[in-house]
Amino acid sequence: MDSQALNHQFATHSHSQPLSDLDRQTLRQLAQIHGTPLLVLNLKRVDEQYQRLQAALPGVKLFYAVKALAHPALLMRLNQLGGHFDLATAGEVNMVRDLGIVAERCIHTHPIKKDSEIREALDFGCTRFVVDNLAEVDKFVPYKDRVQLIVRVSYRSQDAVVDLSRKFGCALEELHTLLEHAQTQGLTIHGLSFHVGSQSGSPAAHVKAIEASIEAMRTFDQIDWKWLDIGGGFPVSYQTPVMEIEDFCAPIREALAQVPENIEIWAEPGRYIAAPSMVELLCVMGRARRGTRMWYYLDDGVYGALSGQIYDHALYPICLLEPREDDLQPSVLAGPTCDSIDVIDEDIDLPELQIGDLLVARMMGAYTLASATEFNFYPKPQVVVVEDLSQPGG
Ligand SMILES: Cc1ncc(COP(=O)(O)O)c(C=O)c1O
Repeated sequence: MDSQALNHQFATHSHSQPLSDLDRQTLRQLAQIHGTPLLVLNLKRVDEQYQRLQAALPGVKLFYAVKALAHPALLMRLNQLGGHFDLATAGEVNMVRDLGIVAERCIHTHPIKKDSEIREALDFGCTRFVVDNLAEVDKFVPYKDRVQLIVRVSYRSQDAVVDLSRKFGCALEELHTLLEHAQTQGLTIHGLSFHVGSQSGSPAAHVKAIEASIEAMRTFDQIDWKWLDIGGGFPVSYQTPVMEIEDFCAPIREALAQVPENIEIWAEPGRYIAAPSMVELLCVMGRARRGTRMWYYLDDGVYGALSGQIYDHALYPICLLEPREDDLQPSVLAGPTCDSIDVIDEDIDLPELQIGDLLVARMMGAYTLASATEFNFYPKPQVVVVEDLSQPGG
């Protein structure tokens, strides 16, 4: 294969928006100061993602799903922007409480909780909880005067990379039994919610679920409905481009126009806000020719921040920090641990790399550090926070 064709292949493997010279300059400086592997959290990008999603879904209250990336700087920035927070565990409750975020801005969305977790959230002051089954409803009976419940319904989607309606959500046909049971127990229900799945390929599942929710609210009109929570699922472009968020949200907005005016609409975006806000700098720490391919061993891999390749099925766009015109050759990028599953990309065309060369993995904010381990005693990558990646000095 000639060098031009290979260069083209490498380009398509990279993200569609190349790193700017200023981005590269800042990243180079950060690597010199902090070493690698290094995650760089870019707060300007947090602003942009939040504001862009809010503009695409006007009037919708955005509860950031803390599980995607629970970094204090990110949470504080969203708090300043007027954001709200979707919490799922006692650990997440404690984190937002320690940051001074007020409970009125939070909802608890995990459909399965221990009693101790319910009490911890209530002590914090969070009173809005998701349920999706009878046993969970019963857990709230001791607290019935202090809680308002949201019932999560399952809507399966073929389009989502991560199916979140298999494990959670009651079937639409079971809603009647659940609502009746909660009412009999003297519990207050004010909301319906769903999550059609993460990294959704099209808005069709959201639209269908919104329509079904409106219908359900009409059917069960004895309930004092106040909230409709449309979950997360808003997609970002990794190696493969996805719909622009404005196009993705247009049909959702149209469907939401049919929701009665007194109902507040909520969403729980995690990935859309966090993913583009962080990049990772990695360094080549070893190289070997094995058969026809060059193997490059990087200082982080699928046991570290690239764990999202395993758990989240994401393929991050990876490029060289310093672009080169050299011929490309079939290469493998591997992580540093002793396990053979720790391979990042088996089929990437790269110029010949040397030990010490730096690579940049992008779209590394969501479900990356969150699921990183310290297998082999490799510590999780350090995070540095910059106000604006394109400003030298951070
Ligand atoms: C209950 C709940 N809400 C919100 C999210 C965030 O979803 P996404 O990252 O697709 O926006 C998740 C993801 O797992 C979730 O489980």
